[in-house]
Amino acid sequence: MTRTIGYIVGSISSTSINRSLATALEKLAPEGTTLVEIPIKDLGFYSPDQDADYPQVARDFKQAIADVDGVLIITPEYSRSIPGVLKNALDWSARPWGQGSFNEKPVAVIGGSIGGVGTAAAQQHLRAILGHYNALTMGQPEGFIHITPGLITEDGDVTNAGTAEFLTAWLEAFNLHISRSHAALQLV
Ligand SMILES: Cc1cc2nc3c(=O)[nH]c(=O)nc-3n(C[C@H](O)[C@H](O)[C@H](O)COP(=O)(O)O)c2cc1C
Repeated sequence: MTRTIGYIVGSISSTSINRSLATALEKLAPEGTTLVEIPIKDLGFYSPDQDADYPQVARDFKQAIADVDGVLIITPEYSRSIPGVLKNALDWSARPWGQGSFNEKPVAVIGGSIGGVGTAAAQQHLRAILGHYNALTMGQPEGFIHITPGLITEDGDVTNAGTAEFLTAWLEAFNLHISRSHAALQLV
């Protein structure tokens, strides 16, 4: 079985620790599973004015979500919530009305922070948004990653064995969640 998981990094920082977390996850992906980025940095600000004629970049973004088996959202925490760039991308995903990209889509959320809270507050907000979208969001295991200097190398290698083990198990759990979600959707 081959599977493709798309990932969205909720940061456009050139030194993003969440991008380094994404690179680490790419490297730890289970056999047969490929992680591909669904980029958000070229999306303009969402406005309903464009609902009737979505710009190509937003069409591409929605198509990229449609093309993958599941979506992984890797979010920073900004002021106890998600960054605006991520919310903006999610707004594009939700429209045009009735064409929400996350409807019945298997999703997992994870995030890294320089603080011990590990994006827990941001992820609660993100889960609320995904609930409204009718996404099939994995409940457990949660992934609150406290990223200390050197935890993830520039090449995306995780230097702490326990963290590497956790991330590997977390990805396997998401793979299982995708399988179960797809099976459940066949049941009716
Ligand atoms: C505007 C702003 C708000 C932040 N708020 C929080 C916060 O509420 N909780 C937290 O743990 N870190 C907070 N941080 C620190 C981030 O964890 C840190 O900047 C992190 O590197 C952001 O992720 P990124 O490097 O992937 O962009 C904040 C940073 C910024 C710039």
